[in-house]
Amino acid sequence: MLNNLEQQPADALLALIKLHNDDPRVDKIDLGVGVYRTGQGDTPVFGAIKAAEQRLVETQASKAYLGPEGDMGFVRALMPYIFGTDAPDMGGRIEGMQTPGGTGSLRLAFAMADRAGITRMWMGSPTWPNHPQICKDLGIGMETFSHATPEGTADMDGIRSAIASAQSGDAILLHGCCHNPTGIDYTNEQWDEIAGLLADSPGLPILDLAYQGLGHGMEQDAYGLRRVAAAAPEMLVAYSCDKNFGLYRDRTGALYAMTAEPGALAAVMSNGHALARANWSQPPDHGAAAARIVMEDEGLTVQWLDELDQMRTRMRQMRARLAAAGQVGGVDLTPLGGQNGLFSIIPFTPEQVQAMRDRHGIYFAGSGRINVAGLTSANIDNFIAAVAEVTG
Ligand SMILES: Cc1ncc(COP(=O)(O)O)c(C=O)c1O
Repeated sequence: MLNNLEQQPADALLALIKLHNDDPRVDKIDLGVGVYRTGQGDTPVFGAIKAAEQRLVETQASKAYLGPEGDMGFVRALMPYIFGTDAPDMGGRIEGMQTPGGTGSLRLAFAMADRAGITRMWMGSPTWPNHPQICKDLGIGMETFSHATPEGTADMDGIRSAIASAQSGDAILLHGCCHNPTGIDYTNEQWDEIAGLLADSPGLPILDLAYQGLGHGMEQDAYGLRRVAAAAPEMLVAYSCDKNFGLYRDRTGALYAMTAEPGALAAVMSNGHALARANWSQPPDHGAAAARIVMEDEGLTVQWLDELDQMRTRMRQMRARLAAAGQVGGVDLTPLGGQNGLFSIIPFTPEQVQAMRDRHGIYFAGSGRINVAGLTSANIDNFIAAVAEVTG
């Protein structure tokens, strides 16, 4: 039986890590894999998380099962950050559960939508490749809309026409902030309009918030999501703590459902629990427990938010340097200054991507997506010079 299975293509980004590791050049640059890096090129554990882990080791009395919903203290502690402090559960209309990272949350959100009768998902193009991959795996149909204009701004006509076309049985997937792969987010005014359109749409909004705090700050990065929550009757939110707590491999995330009436919530969440049970049974505890300890402790919260500020400031500095370079060879780096988060796309041709690797030891995805956090004061001038040489 097993030889019925066909060879699957290797994940392109993981293959890129190997290519970079095998390159002997000392000045090579890795702009591929999506993790934050310091000015020294490291991805350290947050100090606040280290302190919380220490406390966890000393105080955790049991590792007995918690249930498919995971650590509900963690799930609830996140809610004011996501939905605001005024009405974090929208009067009993929002409930959540812990998931294995943002990917686990998306998987659960899409499977829940599928169970609810969603047969078609609208997603921007381009988007994070795992979005269509999960949809395909679940057999949910897909429609795309244009997310970005060639000038590097959000394509409002794209999202307007998607929402106008959405019918009952459709879901509309939106990135909450720090769009992957383009770094192009909707402005607050654009979110106001999108929320208004979603209020009158039969489409179910699914918000993917995987980088809160990495764009403009924890509050500002939740603006669009909160506008949609205030306007639309229902919503699913897939949340990841893997970037904003630096927990990547500890797989820390949550799924939230917002229903039109509080009374509908228990049945919705029971489907989430049943789906979790059939997939991973229970989410891994460690990262969520550490993040909860941080959020429950005032001092550790201040430390965490300060560490997050430093990350964001460093990425903004690198973006400002790129934008200041302006027109470089055949490409204009100016729009990267106004984009958000880890990623931006530079419109390289496939040959130019290859030339950046071969001639300069600079590695990034074939789509031209670069991880801005891979740039440092020590390598950014080399990067800009390489872009000029390859595209000029
Ligand atoms: C847009 C988007 N959503 C969700 C995720 C999921 O993150 P994780 O599963 O690592 O928590 C990512 C990670 O790269 C992402 O870019």
